[in-house]
Amino acid sequence: VVHKEQLGLPARRAAVRLLYQVLREGKSFDDLFDHDCEHGLLRSFALRDRALVRKLTATTLRRHGQLVDAIDRYLKKPFPKGSGAAREILLIGAVQLLFLDTPPHAAIDLAVRSADLDRKARGFKGVINAVLRRVSENADTILAQQDAVNLNTAPWLMQRWTRTYGADTARQIGEAHLHEPSLDITTKGPPEEWIEQLQATLLATGSLRLASAGRIADLPGFDDGAWWVQDAAAALPARLLGDTAGRSVLDMCAAPGGKTAQLASAGAIVTALDISAARLKLVRENLTRLGLEATVVDADASRFQPATPPQFILLDAPCSATGTIRRHPDIPHIKEEGVFAELVPLQRRMLDHAVSLLPTGGVLVFCTCSLEPEEGEQHIASLLADGAPVSRRPIDASEVGGLGELITSAGDLRTLPCHLMHGEAALGGLDGFFAARLVKH
Ligand SMILES: C[S@@+](CC[C@H](N)C(=O)[O-])C[C@H]1O[C@@H](n2cnc3c(N)ncnc32)[C@H](O)[C@@H]1O
Repeated sequence: VVHKEQLGLPARRAAVRLLYQVLREGKSFDDLFDHDCEHGLLRSFALRDRALVRKLTATTLRRHGQLVDAIDRYLKKPFPKGSGAAREILLIGAVQLLFLDTPPHAAIDLAVRSADLDRKARGFKGVINAVLRRVSENADTILAQQDAVNLNTAPWLMQRWTRTYGADTARQIGEAHLHEPSLDITTKGPPEEWIEQLQATLLATGSLRLASAGRIADLPGFDDGAWWVQDAAAALPARLLGDTAGRSVLDMCAAPGGKTAQLASAGAIVTALDISAARLKLVRENLTRLGLEATVVDADASRFQPATPPQFILLDAPCSATGTIRRHPDIPHIKEEGVFAELVPLQRRMLDHAVSLLPTGGVLVFCTCSLEPEEGEQHIASLLADGAPVSRRPIDASEVGGLGELITSAGDLRTLPCHLMHGEAALGGLDGFFAARLVKH
């Protein structure tokens, strides 16, 4: 007879291993998870168990500050070097006690069993057991005493957002990151046709929002290529190019292809560029599923020379991605302030090159999924101050479903994770994006 708790052991151990690789080796959770599902241990897992592994790991990353605070209340001294994954075992145990409603005896028992199977952590079984018992007994008090936003937001990010957006908004951004984001979908045809089948809400911007999704590939319309997954904010920049039907568009950083798909389905003649061959494979697969066409090119966006000048360019530049922490709670754990030193100059080189490729009257939309002004607003300010041959064509609220709060006084798009979180339109947030529209003169 297999005890019920034992069934969950492989999932806990997989979560511990993934968490260890993110926190100690700085690896991307999505990359690890996807690779594991294709080539690793998770391949043999049932879909339900994979979902459990994802939930355990992602919630631990999202609530890491609170979990560390809870554990450290009872851990008399830190684990020494060479104690294997003892700390991660404790975190995965604590997340179940504090946030995932796992029966305490099961969460504690599974943690102790996980430790028993880790040669280096085995010696800390007793400590793990004792700390988790205390966390479980005091769960309500711990949660009541904690400032979740402060504990779970990396200080360097909180400082930046406070500087940029003010203390109130910075806190609201941190608050938005505590919640699991909804699933947003962009449809190939009119979204209204899919509201009922997908049991979705139609946002003012035209995206469909699903409260709970289950497996994406099982949803109606997936196999027919009727829609693709794309955050509602991520769906805005490509539309800002305006009517591109029958016109040539260069999508300079295209993979995995969400914006390419929007442009192709709007009838544009798209050249989709990316420097990563592996990621371009995703663009091809997505286009095939959706029955859409684009010319896919493996090239460096800061040097690429098209045969003829494109009338429209979309530059969705690589960035720190701090606007997508809701969807990627590993970002604050694997990135640090140093990322800007490399990315900001690269973004500017790409921007300069994009401007040089445009013919007179050509339109460029520059965007990043970052909350940091160095990767957005400041690029446009310095480009214009440097006398680049472009002018800003301000974005109007009517182009983003009438949501005036998404448009800056300069006429750029600036979405925040806390947008659509409050009041009547409490629909569950947006990724943080910046976009500016420029015209060549
Ligand atoms: C923000 S993602 C693009 C997302 C995509 N536009 C979409 O909507 O699905 C940035 C992309 O830039 C690519 N990239 C990074 N450096 C590049 C370069 N020098 N030239 C072209 N692409 C580059 C990365 O491989 C990555 O796929």
